[in-house]
Amino acid sequence: MVSQTGFPAAPVDRAALARSLQPFGESVMLPPAAYVDPAVFAWEQKHFFGSGWTCVGFSTQLAQPGDQRAEPAGDGSVLLTRDEDGTLHAFANTCRHRGHELLPCGSAEQRNSIICPYHSWTYELSGELRFAQGFKAQAGFDSSAWGLAELPVTEWHGLIFVDGSGQAAPLADVLATLDEIVTPYEPERLVIAGQHTYDAAANWKILTENYHECYHCPVIHPELCRVSPPKSGENYPAQGAWIGGWMDLRDGMDTMSLDGTSLGTPLRRLDAPGLRTVVYVNIFPNVLLSLHPDYVMTHRLVPLAMDRTMIECTWAFAPEALDRPGFDPSYAVEFWDLTNQQDWAACESVQRGLSSPHAQPGPLSREEDAVYQFVTMVGRGYLGQQVWNPGAKAPAAS
Ligand code: FES
Ligand SMILES: [Fe+2]
Repeated sequence: MVSQTGFPAAPVDRAALARSLQPFGESVMLPPAAYVDPAVFAWEQKHFFGSGWTCVGFSTQLAQPGDQRAEPAGDGSVLLTRDEDGTLHAFANTCRHRGHELLPCGSAEQRNSIICPYHSWTYELSGELRFAQGFKAQAGFDSSAWGLAELPVTEWHGLIFVDGSGQAAPLADVLATLDEIVTPYEPERLVIAGQHTYDAAANWKILTENYHECYHCPVIHPELCRVSPPKSGENYPAQGAWIGGWMDLRDGMDTMSLDGTSLGTPLRRLDAPGLRTVVYVNIFPNVLLSLHPDYVMTHRLVPLAMDRTMIECTWAFAPEALDRPGFDPSYAVEFWDLTNQQDWAACESVQRGLSSPHAQPGPLSREEDAVYQFVTMVGRGYLGQQVWNPGAKAPAAS
């Protein structure tokens, strides 16, 4: 079909999608195939994660010239480098000789050139082929024709995004309205002091949908409900390639921790409401950004299979908090590690439940409006359309 994005439609039943795209209050969830069908997963890897902006890591992971890192992106992986001038580059992680990966996915390196581990072809950090053993004497070999395939890359508040298609609208434009919300937290200034990597037996969308509602909180998160009222807050209107909202802290609670106490430092640019709320936003397709008065938690989702997702979760604090003698980030890390595990257990059960041949898409409660926004983003994407609401303000909507 012809589409705004140039994508083909996903292999998902049109009538079922039409039901998911009905107005809020009348719609139902995506059909189970969206969560259990490998063909849908393959389409998503190609069109949601392999095209358009996908988060592949943090700027601090590539802070110095010579830093290199390979990360999964869609069906392949990308090689990130910081060159001598401080410019960040992203390349398809495949050697121009015979295709060996330049770095194993998930690994990092620090050196002033990129060296393929197979036959030692050597590239500049900016991607040009510097040396190919034995080719100097080969008539007609033009090394300038064999540089690495470069992909658009951009940094946004300390997160690195790559566009596998080379066609996406500027990320800053599609996140313009989110920028106003995130800027006071200065995530790019914060220091990661805690990290967990999870491997959840659930589809990435189930994890995201779960993030977008607190309808489940009174049932599975007693610790969370002690510090934040589950029915508090609101969601923002849909205005770009992101979704989210905020929740309040209970009186007397300073942050999300087991007893509501902060052992960190309030982030220096927050106003009074910022110090009493926690903001939860999802940058489509794979970042969940949780902005607290004293730390920022980031979940980066990396889909591994239709029913399996790697989740890289980090906790970042103000440098002045880390400078305090005896600073210990575990007040935040332990609270969310417990909550994360409660969430993953629920999501894994949803994955198993949706695998039943009798599973049917269910309705959404009034508290699940952000889930609705997410489902309709995915549904529009499946139809080959731009994922965010065409009626919403998105400056670079193409
Ligand atoms: S495949 Fe990289 S040098 Fe041969
Ligand atoms: Fe939860």
